[in-house]
Amino acid sequence: MQRPVRLAPSILSADFATLGAEVAAIDRAGADWIHVDVMDGHFVPNLTIGPAVIKALRPHSQKPFDVHLMIAPVDPYLAAFADAGADTISVHPESGPHLHRTLQAIKGLGRRAGVVLNPATPIAAVEPVLDLVDLVLVMSVNPGFGGQAFIPAVLPKIAALRRLIDCSGRAIDLEVDGGINRQTIGPVIAAGADAVVAGSASFDGGPAAYAQNLSALRRAADLARPGPDDGSLGW
Ligand code: DX5
Ligand code: ZN
Repeated sequence: MQRPVRLAPSILSADFATLGAEVAAIDRAGADWIHVDVMDGHFVPNLTIGPAVIKALRPHSQKPFDVHLMIAPVDPYLAAFADAGADTISVHPESGPHLHRTLQAIKGLGRRAGVVLNPATPIAAVEPVLDLVDLVLVMSVNPGFGGQAFIPAVLPKIAALRRLIDCSGRAIDLEVDGGINRQTIGPVIAAGADAVVAGSASFDGGPAAYAQNLSALRRAADLARPGPDDGSLGW
């Protein structure tokens, strides 16, 4: 299924001293989703922001908030993130003992549910719960920090998930997160992703550079998009 590529700048790389203005600026520059990385210093070795900050940012953009939870336990906080204005809530299978129950809770809150696969987490972790999932987020770095190098070994996993999602017949977004830049976005899109997170590559150079950063990513993504004839014999 051909879908337009969605760009989701991660505000982890924004200027935290002026986060509201940063969200508005990246929205104006062409972001499709605003990616928000929530870290607890326990599930991942870094601490970021919680629901109160998301709530404060909500009026600064009409774009969907794509909230990536790197916290354990995660269940006690789902309602707070939904109330704060998250549109998609994505969780790691390792962040609780009952992934199916966690996804049911997110759906019960009226939000889109995502499952995040770490580089070492197999596709099998999401397969049994695919009927509850609106988005699969493939980590192409180990979660915890912006600015890390892309791990090319995840490319076959993206391609395999593309096939799995297409076979399911469900409109599940396939998003990739970590080390995405003008060079790495091509292979990721060619492998079948239809959404990408980009932190450093979006926010590099400050607000004056945002529109240029996003259009360069979008151009590179469009060039790499599999054509309708791919895989055919050419007629
Ligand atoms: C890492 C986060 C990413 C990160 C991406 O744990 O999930 O969203 O902000 O940053 P870049 O694009 O700089 O790798
Ligand atoms: Zn993220």
